[in-house]
Amino acid sequence: MGRKLLLENINVPGINSFEVYRKHGGYRAVEKALKTMSTEDVVEEVKKSGLRGRGGAGFPTGMKWSFLAKPEGKPRYLVCNADESEPGTFKDRYLMTHIPHLLIEGMIVASYALGAKTSYIYVRGEMMPQIRILERAIAEAKAEGFLGKNILGTGYDLELYVQPGGGAYICGEETALIESLEGKRGNPRIKPPFPAISGLYNCPTVVNNVESIAAVVPIINDGAEEYAKLGIGRSTGTKLISASGNIKNPGVYEIELGVPVEEFIYSDEYCGGMANGKRLKAVVAGGSSVPILPANLILKLTTGENRLMSYESLAEGAFASGTMMGSGGFVVFDEDQCIVRNTWNFSRFYHHESCGQCSPCREGTGWMEKVLHRLEYGHGKLSDLDLLVDVAKKIEGNTICPLGDAAAWPVASAIRHFRDEFEWHVSHAEEAMGRNYGLAHY
Ligand code: NAI
Ligand code: SF4
Repeated sequence: MGRKLLLENINVPGINSFEVYRKHGGYRAVEKALKTMSTEDVVEEVKKSGLRGRGGAGFPTGMKWSFLAKPEGKPRYLVCNADESEPGTFKDRYLMTHIPHLLIEGMIVASYALGAKTSYIYVRGEMMPQIRILERAIAEAKAEGFLGKNILGTGYDLELYVQPGGGAYICGEETALIESLEGKRGNPRIKPPFPAISGLYNCPTVVNNVESIAAVVPIINDGAEEYAKLGIGRSTGTKLISASGNIKNPGVYEIELGVPVEEFIYSDEYCGGMANGKRLKAVVAGGSSVPILPANLILKLTTGENRLMSYESLAEGAFASGTMMGSGGFVVFDEDQCIVRNTWNFSRFYHHESCGQCSPCREGTGWMEKVLHRLEYGHGKLSDLDLLVDVAKKIEGNTICPLGDAAAWPVASAIRHFRDEFEWHVSHAEEAMGRNYGLAHY
């Protein structure tokens, strides 16, 4: 069994209450940080741990914290990004539902480290049960003296608020989230300036994912060195993976980074293998914003070794930029899945969610969706494949926020790795149409 740092106590009855969480060692990190460590010590510890952003980008968390500007007379803010919306990703929801005090504890330690006196948890608007769970957990922590004025008699004050999200995928992009938190439409801002310099109400702000903030608790409790012993290379620690698709055991798993992909898919500790004895066809390893990879590429490196679940390994052989670990949304496709249909489905999602500020994304996602739709429904031409790649290239790198890239990559990688399947949809148009006959049109 792999080591668990976040989900160790997940099955303890009542762990969502303050009392049980505390009995199992909860809020020790708050006591340790606030009573025995300076704010710089906490930042340094997180830096040394090698923790990388668990929302998807994998940016080093300690480094992000150390970039936070400290201008005279301006407040600093910590905002937790709990607007989890990436298709195939449901790990933050799981954590907030079952062990909310882990997030609250991480928020207190991180806010202390950053010098924030007001912090927010921006929760996806559809997650009403989680919003209520967090509000209750905050009230419990406050009643016990872990939030509010003069926490544990240390002189540190912190107010923590839960903010329901605006109900759009784009509100999870950090600058759109900040706009939404300020009460405006969730449109992404141009970066730089990064939020660390000018974020909420133009004040220095750190935006961190739920899992990143929760991971601060074991880092402070056990020390950065212990944390960094887990994992592989620059991918230290553990990572929550939301596993779904054609596998026997879908669910949320905590893995030590570096587990071979093959082991993750086939071992009973994790996905338990393919459902119904089917063969593996492809995997999207990090939510829909990363390329789709065929089985032969995801399982083996050219050297014949297993691919590893890490930020570095999964990136190899795919695309030059970005990490394939993404948000940890691991979607498995069996041999019966139609790549064209799935690509169209992703494309439809991004077109719907584009905020429309920049033309390559607003127009390009629409064109990709239309062309994929006609390919899927038997009206496509061979030249459509090059047209799709061309549109994807024109979007990539030319937009304000990463939604454009996220829309372009899956399309370009699907054509690159499954060109024959796209061509089949053109050469066997009637069959392609017949296969989808009766399925809902949008
Ligand atoms: P990014 O690479 O632009 O930034 C990562 C973080 O590092 C940000 O907080 C940014 O402010 C900070 N940063 C980068 N350079 C900096 C600098 N020089 N100074 C100060 N701070 C700096 O990526 P972004 O837009 O935050 O995230 C994109 C990822 O989000 C995608 O990879 C995707 O997988 C993931 N995603 C996850 C979702 C989810 O539901 N978990 C939803 C949608 C996307
Ligand atoms: Fe909006 Fe798309 Fe531009 Fe992002 S890339 S700002 S979602 S139009």
